[in-house]
Amino acid sequence: MTEPLSIADYERLAEQRLGPGPWAYLAGGSGDEWTLRENRTAFSRWTFRPRVLRDVSGISTATTVLGKALELPVVVAPVAYQQLYDAEGDCATARAAAAVGAGMAVSTLATRSNEEIAAAAPGLLQWCQLYVFRDRGVTREQLAGVAAAGCSALVLTVDTPRLAQRERDIRAGFEIPADLPLPYARAAMGESAQNPAEHFKLLDDSVSWRDLEWIASESRLPVILKGIVTAEDAKIALEHGAAAIAVSNHGGRQLDGAPATLDALPEVVEAVDGRVEVYLDGGVRRGTDVAKALALGARAVFAGRAPIFGLAAAGEKGVRHVLELLRDELTLTLCLLGCTSPEEVTRAHIQRAAV
Ligand SMILES: Cc1cc2nc3c(=O)[nH]c(=O)nc-3n(C[C@H](O)[C@H](O)[C@H](O)COP(=O)(O)O)c2cc1C
Repeated sequence: MTEPLSIADYERLAEQRLGPGPWAYLAGGSGDEWTLRENRTAFSRWTFRPRVLRDVSGISTATTVLGKALELPVVVAPVAYQQLYDAEGDCATARAAAAVGAGMAVSTLATRSNEEIAAAAPGLLQWCQLYVFRDRGVTREQLAGVAAAGCSALVLTVDTPRLAQRERDIRAGFEIPADLPLPYARAAMGESAQNPAEHFKLLDDSVSWRDLEWIASESRLPVILKGIVTAEDAKIALEHGAAAIAVSNHGGRQLDGAPATLDALPEVVEAVDGRVEVYLDGGVRRGTDVAKALALGARAVFAGRAPIFGLAAAGEKGVRHVLELLRDELTLTLCLLGCTSPEEVTRAHIQRAAV
């Protein structure tokens, strides 16, 4: 292949580079993978309503999330076990995100600690994703350290009380290498667990709305709830003081049959009515996808698989190029829509495609 020109090119390279187990884990979804496909298909159900003659000579993709500056409205989604894809693991991803001015949410199942990541990537907008362990002591310890480790918000994932059945992983016999560093999860799991499903048995499926308060107070950070797809839960989230909502179905990896996130976004945006920021993830592979999410009311998107395709294909350089592709494609999309910034993209720039 010539130089990769698109995220789809990086996806093909990643598949060639990775063994069948890690590839299955990265690319796959749950059940029949209906929601996985829907996340992508939903973007093609919307078309743009471009406006012309708007002086687009000066365009910036810069924005803010929770008051902090980003060069583009993109945060690298929390993705577990990143050392499976590159020897530098999460630190390579973090350096690339910092270089491009994207944010990064670090998984509880990260292969580097938040401190190591912050040291590797000065200036990075770094958030900490939280899975609550049954052993609350382990979670308390993680929470107590996150602010000092350089994280400015917590991303509590709420769609994973249990791990869904992912048949590709089972067929490929995917196992976590026993020596994979997992600074947060090892304390809860001991030495044995090598199967992702085993890791998730360590998580506390009794977590409820009542737990939000202690999570916020232990961490002393704003809490973003990741995994909401209904207006009802968005409203309850507001009542419990959520700082932001990430509309997510875990990239089609949890409840198969959950709606495409782009389809769920409008009802969450309407329910929230401007009181907190709303983010979206799932299927973002193009700058045009970012623009469609912005038009439907998202402040920013999380990108999960896309940067990890870059990581698997070409390490830090690959992640960086994937994020640059999203930035450059978004710049072009803004220009051709007649907008000079993410804020100028509105509901009037998009319509349901004719069927
Ligand atoms: C390999 C992989 C690992 C993931 N690990 C986590 C995780 O540890 N915590 C979490 O909240 N979400 C996790 N997710 C979900 C992502 O944060 C995100 O919601 C999803 O990937 C978005 O869809 P996309 O991959 O199409 O961009 C993971 C996703 C993938 C593909």
